[in-house]
Amino acid sequence: MSICYLNGEFLPLDEARISPMDRGFLFGDGAYEVIPVYSRRPFRLHEHIARLAHTLEAIRLPDPHPAGDWAAIVGEIVERNPWRDQSVYLQVSRGVDDRRNHAFPTVTRPTVFLMSDELVTTPAAQLATGVAAVSAADFRWLRCDLKTVALLANCLLRQQAVDQGCAETVLFRDGFLTEGAASNIFMVKDGVLLAPPKSHLMLPGITYDVVLELADRHGLPCEVRELLEDEVRAADELWMTSSTKEVLAITRLDGEPVGDGTPGPVGRQMYAWYQDFKNTVMRGG
Ligand code: PDD
Repeated sequence: MSICYLNGEFLPLDEARISPMDRGFLFGDGAYEVIPVYSRRPFRLHEHIARLAHTLEAIRLPDPHPAGDWAAIVGEIVERNPWRDQSVYLQVSRGVDDRRNHAFPTVTRPTVFLMSDELVTTPAAQLATGVAAVSAADFRWLRCDLKTVALLANCLLRQQAVDQGCAETVLFRDGFLTEGAASNIFMVKDGVLLAPPKSHLMLPGITYDVVLELADRHGLPCEVRELLEDEVRAADELWMTSSTKEVLAITRLDGEPVGDGTPGPVGRQMYAWYQDFKNTVMRGG
């Protein structure tokens, strides 16, 4: 049984209890992060904690911990769990109220919860073929830049992919690419890497930033601009990126091959750069 953290205590996950009056449960009123950990070192921890602080501020929930305390709690969760590579889930909700009321409680005691699981990255067989995706209209709210636990729309959208035997749902809003149901989306056309710009319509992914940094470092031509649905459908390569999926080729979209239907050379190169970066930065070479 893995060890979790709940409001100051470390305990086995199956012993953790929260009240049904928690606003995270009643309203989806809370923020979260998923932090990948390699060789027991959290990846881009500072950036994850900064994004959490951004979400908390936007939803008017006072950050219960300074950054140093967050780092200590994450560090302890990592130490108390058995795996070298982990995926740490961190959630802060607006806590328990004594009655159900949409407006905030007068005194807020946030619920802070962390758990960890083994981080299992994409198996070689799947890397070799890439994955299939479907597309859908992005019907989420207009603050997709916030990482809140109110994920029903994302769950419904991801389930559309699963129902069709696919791995991800690529989202379009008003004819433009936004992101995936639980990932950011990149495309390649004529050797140029293309990505939609950060806005209120997509989550500013930590992996998205790493991919753009790696492109810059290695001199890969790159444009960050709004991408039309038609451009995406005519892409040579399409990738999904996230903390848990890293960089994964989408080789079919709505049943049609993307490019030649196999993971393309730019994506394979980016995957290699990403692994190399991980191995040098995280695993000490
Ligand atoms: N999801 N966009 C959405 C909607 C996401 O849910 C995620 C990640 C991303 C990628 O962000 P990052 O690179 O920081 O992981 C983009 C996480 C992994 C999740 O909800 O499980």
